[in-house]
Amino acid sequence: MVFDQARSVAYDRRAGRLLGGFHRRAASGIAAAAPRDGAVLDIGTGPGRLLHAVETLRPDLRLSGADLSPDMVALARRAWPSTALRPADLRVADVGDLPWPDGTFDVVTSTLSAHEWPDQRRAAAELVRVLRPGGLLLVWDFRFARVGALVGALAALCGVRRKAPHPLSPFTRVTARRPV
Ligand SMILES: C[S@@+](CC[C@H](N)C(=O)[O-])C[C@H]1O[C@@H](n2cnc3c(N)ncnc32)[C@H](O)[C@@H]1O
Repeated sequence: MVFDQARSVAYDRRAGRLLGGFHRRAASGIAAAAPRDGAVLDIGTGPGRLLHAVETLRPDLRLSGADLSPDMVALARRAWPSTALRPADLRVADVGDLPWPDGTFDVVTSTLSAHEWPDQRRAAAELVRVLRPGGLLLVWDFRFARVGALVGALAALCGVRRKAPHPLSPFTRVTARRPV
């Protein structure tokens, strides 16, 4: 889906109403995994609600976000809390061609975006490339989202685990660690 300005604003309103608990739970997983003063990248960050939740829990982290939609990135920049200790590095970028050097991040994450990536194999290679050796990838998506190609490509690159979702949960999580 193309998130133009109207769709981005509408999505942000829905996310505020419906996804607060989900973003807070995902943020706790990221906060628990990231080392002190570590670097975290959120792909398909949208209006940046996950990054806000991470910042609240771990203000020491250096946070970055990438999204294909310039309107989403503009929204995320405007919404970044003025109380945050430091600005987030928010960029317009495709998951298949990320503008960061190899090994930049301790944790790479994504929520509810992977099902929209047209080339999940290429995405997997980029996610692993920007992770430091030993770094952790945490991807959440809808329970029935088509992310099989991503999981397969990650399995070929490094260890991957798909957490069996709770029977009542609409979400599923994929975890991978870049080999040292
Ligand atoms: C449903 S929104 C999820 C936003 C946010 N992660 C959240 O949890 O609220 C999906 C986002 O993925 C972005 N996206 C889709 N394809 C992308 C790609 N190839 N590279 C980067 N971002 C992408 C969209 O622009 C959109 O902002």
